[in-house]
Amino acid sequence: MKRYLADEAATTALAGALAAALPVPASGWTILLQGELGAGKSTLARALLRALGHDGPVPSPTYTLVEPYRVAGTTVYHVDLYRIGSADELYYIGWDDLDDGLRLVEWPDRAPGLADSADLRIRLAYEGAGRSAVLEGLSERGHALARAVGEAAGMTDRIN
Ligand SMILES: Nc1ncnc2c1ncn2[C@@H]1O[C@H](COP(=O)(O)OP(=O)(O)OP(=O)(O)O)[C@@H](O)[C@H]1O
Ligand SMILES: [Mg+2]
Repeated sequence: MKRYLADEAATTALAGALAAALPVPASGWTILLQGELGAGKSTLARALLRALGHDGPVPSPTYTLVEPYRVAGTTVYHVDLYRIGSADELYYIGWDDLDDGLRLVEWPDRAPGLADSADLRIRLAYEGAGRSAVLEGLSERGHALARAVGEAAGMTDRIN
């Protein structure tokens, strides 16, 4: 499912559709936010946290690597892997212990193999003055989630 996001408001709307489609609580889910520098990963993560009920600042986890939020009956772990060198370093952030919450991961490509146990990948890319978002289910429930978000957000259904 691909959608054109003309501006930040469109990215926020997509996050709203995603929040509405997720189960409550979304414990045990993993969502990967992929895309180059400035593609809008943090914008989407921030909007998703807001849509789930967090009202407060959402600092970048670039240096802390993980920022936890108690929200919507679970803990959302906002993770940024930009600074890790390999999948081995996931150990240092206690990755396996974060499965009691919703893991929302920027720069998942830094830890190859992460997609094997994730539910949804959102690929953000520059397109004109805005961005494009491609939603891809990685698990069975992730496929269902991508479909639900696509329907809610009026995404065009096509292969990319
Ligand atoms: N759909 C959109 N259209 C145009 N601009 C957008 C859109 N979504 C986000 N932006 C803008 O893109 C800029 C970078 O966004 P953001 O910090 O979310 O990127 P990022 O992918 O997290 O970058 P990094 O890799 O550095 O963490 C922000 O100024 C934001 O307002
Ligand atoms: Mg970011």
